[in-house]
Amino acid sequence: MDYEVRGAPSVSGTFKVPGDKSISHRALLFSSLASGKSEIRGLSTGADVKSTMSCLKQLGVKIEQVDGMVTVRGAGKSAYSRPDSVLDAGNSGTTMRLLTGILAGQQFETTITGDETLRKRPMQRIVGPLTEMGAEIVGSDKMTAPLRIFPSRKLHGIRYELPLPSAQVKSSVLLAGMFAEGETVVVEPVESRDHTERMLKLKKVKGLSGLETVISSDYRVEPQYYDVAGDISSAAFFLAAGAILPNSSVTACGITLNPTRTGFLDVLKSMGANVRIENVREAAGEPIGDVTVSHSNLKGVDIGGGMIPRLIDELPIIGVMAAFAEGETVVHDAHDLRRKESDRIVAVVDNLDAMGADVRELDDGFSVNGTGSLSGAEVDSYKDHRIAMAFTIAGLAAKGTTLIKNAEWAEISFPEFFGITQRLVVRS
Ligand code: S3P
Repeated sequence: MDYEVRGAPSVSGTFKVPGDKSISHRALLFSSLASGKSEIRGLSTGADVKSTMSCLKQLGVKIEQVDGMVTVRGAGKSAYSRPDSVLDAGNSGTTMRLLTGILAGQQFETTITGDETLRKRPMQRIVGPLTEMGAEIVGSDKMTAPLRIFPSRKLHGIRYELPLPSAQVKSSVLLAGMFAEGETVVVEPVESRDHTERMLKLKKVKGLSGLETVISSDYRVEPQYYDVAGDISSAAFFLAAGAILPNSSVTACGITLNPTRTGFLDVLKSMGANVRIENVREAAGEPIGDVTVSHSNLKGVDIGGGMIPRLIDELPIIGVMAAFAEGETVVHDAHDLRRKESDRIVAVVDNLDAMGADVRELDDGFSVNGTGSLSGAEVDSYKDHRIAMAFTIAGLAAKGTTLIKNAEWAEISFPEFFGITQRLVVRS
């Protein structure tokens, strides 16, 4: 699907986004390992989370969905059954990487694959530590999916220092640690999103080389009720629109304010946007609240270091915002952006360039010299949901008309995106 968007004078209104994608995957996976009934309200409606659900069903987990409430009947961490066919993680890196951690501890063989994009994404980052724990996993020459995971010989705990900040790798190793003899310790020199640790109530301590999280084979997952917070990474697109379109003000209700995810709000503030956070409360162990962003004149900022994992998924929309800020915005230390659903450095730079921005590609990021405007153009989603949505917002803020090729990829995380966009646009 190609989506045509005309420049709009402003956006205004209140909106709710679907449940957070990272929390949703984990709620399903952790419920599947618990003994008993777990309930999940507000699960993400995106295709990625559906991929996790269908893999779990193939592994014999009982899952029902009635009126927005998902019920998972887990039978303990060793109760999966051998699937009849290959598991398909679709476009979802989180499904593949977290589930492989669990499958490494099972007594049967499985193969997990994904779509054309996921089959190109690096899996050595999980296969390395899982093999060190005693797992036997075979991938392609370049260690990409399909991954064939052989029946578990006895896994043993390791101490694993993450070479790059990644919540997917951290979670994969911790999940395998539930099946391993002895303790598994994951050390994070730079902290990434901590939903796994919060949801499994794992203790984190400060060690000499970073934050340490420990798990062992006597860990039992408890059945729970999960009320999934709204996804800040989805809300970010509209909050950015509120910041860059004149006379605009938008409010996202009930989004996660977990400090490992709120780098985007910190960047908005340092760019000079008006950000108001209200009704701060808790949902399933995560702080949540309502966030209002209204238009103001933005200025360029420098983004790098420990900030990157706190806003890794928001960098494409930050690139768009930077075009409307005065001065230069530089994003660096974000090399892993090249390994996401697309090479997001290339996607952001090429699309912004097509829209007339003053943008430069860096090895580990990009820099944008804000000119205060963009011009409508033909851009591409690069088969990447976050690029499709970031450039729809760019199109709203641009002069003229923008055509987003292959915009249907937004469905991966946010099927309601185009509907909410139309509702928030004010044209009179
Ligand atoms: C995620 C972690 C991040 C993020 C992805 C979701 C998760 O990936 O980009 O969208 O749910 O753990 P990395 O772990 O590769 O940084």
